[in-house]
Amino acid sequence: MIDIAIIGFGVVGQGVAEALIEKKELIERRIGRFRVVAIADSKSSVVGEFDLLKAIEYKREKGKLWSDKKAMEIIEEIEFDVVFEATPTNVRDGEPGLSYIKRCIEKGANVITSNKGPLVVAFKELQKLADKNGVKLMYEATVGGAMPVVKLVKKNLAGNEIKSIKGILNGTCNYILSRMEKEKMPYPQILSEAQELGIAEADPTYDVEGIDAGAKLVIIANGLMGMNVKFEDVEINGITTVTPEAFEVASQKGYTIRLIAEARRDKLRVSPRLISLNHPLAIDGTLNALQIETDMAGSIFVIGKGAGKRETASAMISDLIDIYEN
Ligand code: HSE
Repeated sequence: MIDIAIIGFGVVGQGVAEALIEKKELIERRIGRFRVVAIADSKSSVVGEFDLLKAIEYKREKGKLWSDKKAMEIIEEIEFDVVFEATPTNVRDGEPGLSYIKRCIEKGANVITSNKGPLVVAFKELQKLADKNGVKLMYEATVGGAMPVVKLVKKNLAGNEIKSIKGILNGTCNYILSRMEKEKMPYPQILSEAQELGIAEADPTYDVEGIDAGAKLVIIANGLMGMNVKFEDVEINGITTVTPEAFEVASQKGYTIRLIAEARRDKLRVSPRLISLNHPLAIDGTLNALQIETDMAGSIFVIGKGAGKRETASAMISDLIDIYEN
């Protein structure tokens, strides 16, 4: 029996719980029996034998769970084999997720996280700690949501040297830019519509100033390209100065404008760039897309949904199956 804890029970944590209910049969066919033994957030929790669906409904209704014990107390007190860590991203110091992840690893639990902050701040440290404790640190959901990137590079492209990875890593910016292009609407009006879609960060400046894409680029560079970089190493320009007029000039020459995040061995940058209208990265709407340059496999392109409750759960469930199937 695999004992699971869920730390962080907002949209992402609840999405994982829903997927564990919906996909129970499929998951158990692949990895054997599992149960959720604890759920905790910043102010409440539930442990022991409980109905997962009732926990989701209770949290939605009351904004908290039954017990007042908080996440760290639960991590200390309860034994579990694997944790879904889905607390909010904080790229400044990675907290509170960083302390949660460290403690779970020290206790010998595998970690599946959707939280960019701890990985941006301390990827090497966490990976070393996981190796030392013989557990897995899985983070498919942190970059590109449902779009396969982490396991694609680590498994399918194993044996390749990754020369560069570039593309669209923020759905909110891509949505704003594609609407600006088609409808000539100014930026502030589209931003509020993008927020209504529910994929923008709680503080949307993280999206439009390129911080979210920059954080993902740090994870790509450290996790997938074997680099050792910090958030400050990324040159970041967001989309706040892009105007509808800029698209007119670009389109006359056969180009569009997209916020491109690029990790090369000599440079990391996020900036609005001209992209040929028929290039695979010239995608519309909230999609993400990446071009992975390798020495043996050549150019690989992936496109998919980079955010959303079910999409993020898809990435996290794939990490769970990956840990225990092997
Ligand atoms: N705010 C992010 C985006 C969500 O728009 O892509 C996924 O990290």
